[in-house]
Formats: sequence, C-alpha cells, structure tokens
Amino acid sequence: MNMKAIAGIAAALACSAVYADEIRNYRAEAVAMLKRDFKTKGIATADRVHEDGLQAVCNRSGDNPPKDVAARLEKDQLESIKYPADGKLMGDWKAGEKLAQSGRGMTWSDKAGVPGGGNCYNCHRIAPTETSFGTLGTSLYQFGKTRGSGPDMQKYVYGKIYNAKAFNLCSAMPRFGHAGALTEQQIKDLVALLLDPQSPVNNK
Ligand code: HEC
Repeated sequence: MNMKAIAGIAAALACSAVYADEIRNYRAEAVAMLKRDFKTKGIATADRVHEDGLQAVCNRSGDNPPKDVAARLEKDQLESIKYPADGKLMGDWKAGEKLAQSGRGMTWSDKAGVPGGGNCYNCHRIAPTETSFGTLGTSLYQFGKTRGSGPDMQKYVYGKIYNAKAFNLCSAMPRFGHAGALTEQQIKDLVALLLDPQSPVNNK
C-alpha cells in the first residue's frame, strides 16, 4: 500500500471519528435541553421525557436493532398487555370515532383521571367521512372488511392499540394502554370503530 492510500484511509477514519463525536454531542445536548425545558407541571410530569430501555435500544440502533433482540423485547411487551377481564373487546364504534378525532388530554391543565382522546387521525386515514388525516401510519379505512373481525383480529387490534411496540418494536405509534393514555373501555370503542361492520370504516 502506498503512502497516499494510507493517508486517505487515515483521513477517512479521522472524519468518521469526528462525525461520531458530533452525533454523541447532539444527543447529550438534546437530553440536556429536554431536562432543562420540561418541568413537572400538574399531571404532566417530567418523567414523560425519560427514555425507557426499549426506546434506548431503538434510538441507539436507528430503529433497527438486531432481530433476536427485537424479538425478545417484543415478547416482553406482548406479555405486559392487559386484556379486559370480561373478555369483551368490542365497544361502541360511535364513541370510538369521537376518540379517534380527539387529540385532547394529558396536558398540565387537565385533571388527573380525566380520559383523553386517541389522536388516531393525526397519523391514520380511518373513516372516509373525515377528510383530514395524517399519513405517518397506514390507512385503516375498511380495516375490518379486509382483515376480518373475528376473535383473533379483535385481540390483535386491542393489543396493537394497547402497546404497538409489542408487534413492531420500534413502531412510531404511541403505546396508549401501556402509557395509561387510554382506558380499557376507550380501547374497546376504538376496536369497534375499526372492526364493527356497521362503522363507517367498513360500511362506506
Ligand atoms: C404518531 C402516529 C400514530 C398515532 C397517533 C397512531 N398510530 Fe396507529 N400506527 C402508526 C404507525 C406508523 C403504524 C404502522 C407501523 C406499525 O405497525 O407499528 C401504525 C399501525 C396501526 C395499526 C396496525 C395496522 C395493521 O395493518 O396491522 C392499527 C390497528 C393502528 N395503528 C391503530 C391506531 C389507533 C386506533 C390509533 C389511535 C388510538 C392510532 N393507531 C394512533 C402510527 C400512529
């Protein structure tokens, strides 16, 4: 190997070292900024900005952890899902539609225990009657019609809303049940919105 090639490799290594340092500094700066600016106020407690173990694994791997690690962590998340004791997973789709529309709740001015909204349209197309929706998540229009609405599908949808990361470790979808953002009844109502044949998701 000639000197020019060695110098080239050394320069490339130096560059990647500088780049890695910058990434580390940005992370430290961002964490410091979050800790500085997010203060506990009312029910909005500062622990919301703490990264948990699963988020750390996703954040450190660019949302692409080794498959065996992801499988093990997804299994843990799956086992932590609490299904309703009465075994009924379908609620009222009309209440579900209102919840899907509402992005309210969990701010410092809200009272503890007051149920918030699901914010689903922010990321998903759902019923065709609502023309304003986000596209970060897949379209859920005609979900029940195309995927079925039997017991297995009800269980999947309930679990997915309760803890999306149990099925896709680095999912961008919030863990609504796991985080205590939605109650058991609210999740049932959303399951009905997606699966009930009478809901506008499936009958239009
Ligand atoms: C911040 C964005 C975001 C919000 C808010 C969100 N989701 Fe999702 N959702 C996603 C993404 C992204 C996916 C696809 C990746 C995955 O499966 O995790 C997804 C997937 C799903 C799936 C699985 C779809 C399939 O084909 O199996 C269901 C069901 C679902 N979301 C329902 C909901 C409901 C109901 C709400 C409201 C309570 C909601 N989502 C709120 C981002 C979001």
